[in-house]
This record gives sequence, C-alpha cells and structure tokens, in this order.
Amino acid sequence: MSHDKAQLTLPNQSPVELPIYQPTLGTDVIDINTLHNVFTYDPGFTATASCESKITFIDGEKGILLYRGYPIEQLAEQAEFLEVCYLLLHGELPTHMQKEQFNHRITIHTMVHEQISKLFQGFRRDAHPMAIMLGVVGALSAFYHDSLDIQNPQHRERAAFRLIAKMPTIAAMCYKYSIGQPFIYPQNDLNYAENFLHMMFGVPCAQEKPNAILARALDRIFTLHADHEQNASTSTVRLAGSTGANPFACISAGIAALWGPAHGGANEACLNMLREIGSVSHINDYIKRAKDKNDPFRLMGFGHRVYKNYDPRAKVMRQTCHEVLKEVGAADEPLFKLALELERIALEDEYFVERKLYPNVDFYSGITLSAIGIPSTMFTVIFALARTVGWISQWNEMIADNARIGRPRQLYTGPTQRDFVPLDQRG
Ligand code: ACO
Repeated sequence: MSHDKAQLTLPNQSPVELPIYQPTLGTDVIDINTLHNVFTYDPGFTATASCESKITFIDGEKGILLYRGYPIEQLAEQAEFLEVCYLLLHGELPTHMQKEQFNHRITIHTMVHEQISKLFQGFRRDAHPMAIMLGVVGALSAFYHDSLDIQNPQHRERAAFRLIAKMPTIAAMCYKYSIGQPFIYPQNDLNYAENFLHMMFGVPCAQEKPNAILARALDRIFTLHADHEQNASTSTVRLAGSTGANPFACISAGIAALWGPAHGGANEACLNMLREIGSVSHINDYIKRAKDKNDPFRLMGFGHRVYKNYDPRAKVMRQTCHEVLKEVGAADEPLFKLALELERIALEDEYFVERKLYPNVDFYSGITLSAIGIPSTMFTVIFALARTVGWISQWNEMIADNARIGRPRQLYTGPTQRDFVPLDQRG
C-alpha cells in the first residue's frame, strides 16, 4: 500500500490528509476511517470500498472478471466447479492430490441431517423454493452451532465444506417438495453437477445417469455464478457475519438478498419477460416501454451496476446456451431466437448504447436452465447454490482479517428534537 495522500478541506477547518491505497488492480481507494466530524454520503455504495479482499476482481469498463487472478472464461472452459470452489476458498488451484482430497471432503458431507427433511413438511407445497431454501439453510445453524468456533480456521473450513456439499441436496429437496415427489439421496459416485441433476430429476423407481453434456453446462453455470466481489448478497453475508453470527445464518441472509429481481431473481424475471414478449414482432413495443420513465418495465437481463461493457459471463452463457439447446434438440427454440433478436435490437438502440446497458449473465441463463428442464422458480435457487462458495469464501476472509462490525452512518433528515404530545392534545 502506498503513502500517497488526498487532502480534504472542509469549511473553517484545517485540511485533513487521507491515505490513498493502491490496489493490485482497479481503482485507488481513499481511506476515510480517520474522519470524525463529518460523514461521507454514498447511497447504493457506488463509490465505497467496504472491505479489502483478495478473492475476486471486476473491471466493469473492460468486461473483465477474475477469480483469484484467473479470467472467468478460462475457468468456465477448463476447470470443474469444485476446482473453482477450492480456488476461491484457498487462493490457489488445487494439485491432483488436493483436488481428490477436496472432492472427497465435499462428497462425504452431501447428505443433510434426517431431521432437516421434516422441516419441509412445515411449508406449503406452493411456496416459492427460495422461501423454503432460505428457511432451511438458516435452520442448518440449529444443527451446527454449538460445535462451531468461528475463530478456528478448521471449524470455518468445515462450515464451508458443509455448505458447498449440502446446498445441491437442499436445492433439489426444495424442488421435489414442490412437485410432491420423494426426496432423492445424493449419490457419491457422481460428480457435483451430475449429482444435482440426479437429485432433481431422479425418482426411486427409475434412476438414469444424468446427461453428461447437460451436467457440464450446469457445472459451467455454477462456475459463472460462484463469486462476484462485493455485490448486494455478498455484502449482506459480510455485514451479518461481521457481528460474529453463525455462518449458516449469514448465508441465509445472503439468500434473502439474492432473491430480489434486481439481483439473483433477474434470470427468472428475464425468462418471464421473454415469454410475455412472445414474438419478435412485439420487441419494439417492449423496447419502447423499457425506455419510458413513466413505465416501470425494464429490460430484464440488461444492465449492471458494475459492467458497462458486455458481461464476460454472458458471453460464456450464450455459448453454453447454444450447446444445451443443441443437445436437447431445441436449437430452433423460439424463445432463444427471440432473445437473440432482442439482444441485437437493444445493442443498436441509442438509449441502451448511451447508458452502456449490455446483456448480463441472467439474459441467457434462464433459457439454458429451462432447456435443461429446470423450472423458472428454481433459477434463483441454483444461483444461490453456486454463489454459496463465494459467500463463504468472503465470510471466511473477513473473519480471518478480524474485521470490525459493519455499522454505516446516515444523513438524518427527520424532525429535530421535540417534546412528546399527550394523545388528547394532538390534533
Ligand atoms: N432497462 C431499461 N433501462 C435501464 C435498465 C434496463 N434493464 N437498466 C438500467 N436502465 C437505465 C436506468 O433507467 C437509468 O436511466 P437514466 O440514466 O435515464 O435514469 C440508467 O439506465 C442507469 O441505470 P441505474 O438504475 O442507475 O443502474 P443501477 O446500477 O442502479 O442498476 C441494475 C443496475 C439493477 C442491474 C439495472 O440495470 C436493472 O434493473 N437491470 C434489470 C435487472 C437485471 O437484469 N438484474 C441482474 C443484474 S446481474 C446479477 O445480479 C447477476
């Protein structure tokens, strides 16, 4: 870190010197921690670095995403999701032996406590699977609280293993519960994505080996969603974790934040939007609506707080989408053609060009997941499954760094102090 300083001059006060930190990549950061008699105002945190991190880097202008320095395109192409999990958690790609050991440790944790299956009975069958998932993941803290010392790195590692291993099991259980089918136990001779497909689509009376191409596509989707630096859900996990809370409860908080349509819920919303548009001939009407400030409609799957260029994940997702549609014999799928045309029109439209609104990862992930046979209500659940490794890696980094409790300040614009008025004198 450098010793450059910024100077802040406030009215009637002597200038204050603030250290400027130079990151290994990206934008310089001014440390305002020493400011005492003034706050900074940044709703939406557009210019606030909330922490120091070594995990993920995004260059939104150039459309670059790196996990521990490795470009997302290379990882999605060449690595398996569990290798990416190892990388995010430990900082380096695993050797052969480390990979084997890691896979084994994940595999032995895939089952959930039998009592967890009873929890499901308390939910309505038509509940949104995200509602069930956030409840069930939060409830894991009831199973692994007393044995967990978050200051102990081995205990934190075990919590990470448990979460990465159990999320596919819980996600599939959410689906099975919603359609009234029995839960399918994990099968440890399958890889991570195959196992998820097995638990999603297997039934006790007929168990087929999952399709390898679809499993590989899903594995890639997991990698693309594994981490994304300090987004809303990750910041939520860090904020909850900064109080020393149980990690399973923190991940549940992350799931809640992810659920919203402006974040992880966008792929479900995007597929619904494509279905609503229905035909290429209606695209222009919807583009018009997206540009109308009096109309709440937005082009789902377009725009991003950080990317002001093509989301690098969207490029990989687009290719994966092609492969999956070809495999399931749906290459002429009208929804995909509609999506391609919508993308083409929007990318040429002045409104979208001026605002640097490009397709984000959700634009193609919905169509891909749908072609794999996954219902749209499960899309965000799958996002949560994949993002769990990012959340827990960031949580682990924060606890290891002894971070202070997160406690933002505010610009108060409410009433000044006044005296209580008894009920009979109000009017
Ligand atoms: N459709 C139409 N206009 C849009 C869109 C869109 N999808 N996204 C942004 N804009 C416009 C805004 O109206 C605004 O216009 P203005 O400058 O004339 O007021 C301008 O572009 C800037 O947009 P902001 O809302 O300020 O951007 P912000 O960073 O706050 O929001 C967000 C980013 C939430 C992702 C937004 O682009 C959006 O709602 N997109 C659709 C939902 C979506 O796809 N979310 C997924 C994000 S990726 C992820 O979570 C994995």
